[in-house]
Amino acid sequence: MSRVACIGAGTVGRAWAVVFARAGYDVALNDAIAGEVERTAIPGARRTLELLAENGLLSEDVETVVARIRPAGSIAEAVTDVVFVQESVREDVAVKREVFSEIAAHAPADTILASSTSAIPGSDFLTHFAHPERALVVHPVNPPSLIPLVELCGTGTTSPETIAAARQLMTEAGMRPIVLKKEIDGFILNRLQFTLVAEALHLVGEGYCTPEDIDAVLTYGLALRWASIGPFEVAHLNAPDGLQGFVNRLGPMMRQLGAAARTDYDWTEEQIASAHAQLAERIPLDTIADRQAWRDQQILALRQLKQQALG
Ligand SMILES: NC(=O)c1ccc[n+]([C@@H]2O[C@H](COP(=O)([O-])OP(=O)(O)OC[C@H]3O[C@@H](n4cnc5c(N)ncnc54)[C@H](O)[C@@H]3O)[C@@H](O)[C@H]2O)c1
Repeated sequence: MSRVACIGAGTVGRAWAVVFARAGYDVALNDAIAGEVERTAIPGARRTLELLAENGLLSEDVETVVARIRPAGSIAEAVTDVVFVQESVREDVAVKREVFSEIAAHAPADTILASSTSAIPGSDFLTHFAHPERALVVHPVNPPSLIPLVELCGTGTTSPETIAAARQLMTEAGMRPIVLKKEIDGFILNRLQFTLVAEALHLVGEGYCTPEDIDAVLTYGLALRWASIGPFEVAHLNAPDGLQGFVNRLGPMMRQLGAAARTDYDWTEEQIASAHAQLAERIPLDTIADRQAWRDQQILALRQLKQQALG
């Protein structure tokens, strides 16, 4: 069976290990903190696999899949003899450059090298080593073990063959890749997400509504549609004559609200502290782990519903 390596075994790295192990790969999992993989990452991966099994989303028994995830004591040891490397170390361009120098020095020359970066363009840290044509960003949504979308974004030097191979590997591993046509920082998901978050901070900060109201607008409103159809299809279905008819009717409002949105809103520390206090009252900090488990269960229930709807 083919081997892959996951470098960085935090929140995202351990979830990637689940994705690859479930797809049948042997996974070498490495972290800079000695013992972290054995102590927290593998037990965490096991809990996720149990959750997948309870929801009928695992075709093998949990221990068979967990056994494919093995700790690797160094990057060199992890990447020897692998077909794919997924880096998930902390979001710091200098750290990522250093880690990729190490990965590229020890991985086979044709191994695909991928980064989970949330927002740093790959051109900033994926071109300074031998064979940069094999490197790209494969940005997941947390946790990739439960949410299938991945954004593939090459640098100016990434080869089309690398993009095609990464797309195929991701698809076969049960993910849903999109490929960016051009490089842009933040890629697509986080540009959309933080545009909305910026306007939410503006609306709360200027006293139009509470953080709870914003969350309700999404979970009882927009996201009920967005779980099945995105904003383009929403518009297309909201007029009998499709997107063109929708824009003919509401284009002026769309332009006006788009221009008025305060994505540059200069929120203050006090506003964040106040929003945090309101959230901590609703979801006390010592219940966050339970609430995360509830969130994961909700995501899986929604995925099953979508699966049934697709037949
Ligand atoms: N958390 C999210 O919601 C999310 C979503 C998508 C992408 N990402 C991206 O994934 C990456 C990892 O994020 P995270 O949330 O898992 O961070 P994290 O802090 O939970 O984990 C990072 C891990 O990398 C390890 N590490 C640091 N330097 C290392 C090195 N030189 N070699 C090996 N391991 C090293 C740390 O010990 C830590 O365990 C970041 O680039 C982040 O932007 C995060």
